[in-house]
Amino acid sequence: MAAADQTRAAVTEGDLLLEVDDLTVEFHTDDGIVHAVSNMSWDLHAGETMAILGESGSGKSVSVQAVMNLLPTPPAVIAGGSIRYRGTELVGAEAKTMQKIRGPEIAMIFQDPLSALNPVYRVGWQIAEMFRMHSGLSKSQARARAVELMDMVGIPNPKERASQFPHQFSGGMRQRAMIAMALALEPKVLIADEPTTALDVTVQAQIMDLLQRIQKETQMGLVLITHDLGVVASVADRVVVMYAGRAVETGSAEDFYADPAHPYSRGLMASVPRIAGPLERLQSIEGTPPSVINLPSGCAFHPRCPFVVDRCVTDRPESSAIAAHVGTSACHRTGDLS
Ligand SMILES: Nc1ncnc2c1ncn2[C@@H]1O[C@H](COP(=O)(O)OP(=O)(O)OP(=O)(O)O)[C@@H](O)[C@H]1O
Ligand SMILES: [Mg+2]
Repeated sequence: MAAADQTRAAVTEGDLLLEVDDLTVEFHTDDGIVHAVSNMSWDLHAGETMAILGESGSGKSVSVQAVMNLLPTPPAVIAGGSIRYRGTELVGAEAKTMQKIRGPEIAMIFQDPLSALNPVYRVGWQIAEMFRMHSGLSKSQARARAVELMDMVGIPNPKERASQFPHQFSGGMRQRAMIAMALALEPKVLIADEPTTALDVTVQAQIMDLLQRIQKETQMGLVLITHDLGVVASVADRVVVMYAGRAVETGSAEDFYADPAHPYSRGLMASVPRIAGPLERLQSIEGTPPSVINLPSGCAFHPRCPFVVDRCVTDRPESSAIAAHVGTSACHRTGDLS
């Protein structure tokens, strides 16, 4: 099986929803070209949870903003590749097509809930607006549905809360409101960009439970961006590890945890204290993250890699299948790390 096909070997049985193929995204800035995402491939099936992992600046948010067609162009340029949602090409899709897809088909929870909620409108109104725009409900029907949803995501006293403004909500409640908005139209795919960052551990766990419960009911595909390896361990079926804009390891979460293949993945695992309790954010690998304007030659990880050999400095490794795994690693020494 070719390496690209290896990532497509089903981890779950659900219908194929999203196919990202060889995606390359650049930002053309005054300082040079930012290589935010390079040749990235993954796909997502119904009912499946895929986690995207990687340190800050590795391209996680940009890769999913490309799926939603939300990148500012310029400076962003999709320099190559394709993104298909149930067969429909989204790269270069018309605004009309995206309006039909964003919300009812693919919804997103953003990294920063304040930027997604409009401060001047009441929270209930903002959720109800989703129904008015997409499902033609009357004003009072839409409002009733909004209150139901707020109840479902665990906002207490939803009726009263619906007439409050975002600044009257705590961080956790705002996050729930945003989740309610994203789930309003029962999307087939939910993209959650660090949905629990900045929330306390108990609220994090409640929100993850909520997402999983809804996923079970609706067979929604979930793309979860997170720094939290504990969350990945408990919910992900499939994992994509990013480094400097590239998917350096892809595969089933089970294989990834039992036996991380890429040296960077191994570093991530080693940086996590293996004790009960909240896991730390991923940031304690030695060395500095690479510049995505002046990428290191060869493999971008080579300056920090304990397994580096001469080739790594000159040749960029392609993704290749990992023996006995459902997955790939982009490393010259795959299967030979000792
Ligand atoms: N509008 C933009 N103009 C120029 N560069 C950008 C723009 N948006 C993102 N980038 C750059 O693209 C790269 C990838 O950014 P991205 O936001 O995807 O990182 P991330 O992995 O989500 O990080 P974090 O964990 O901090 O959220 C970074 O180097 C970032 O500075
Ligand atoms: Mg991000």
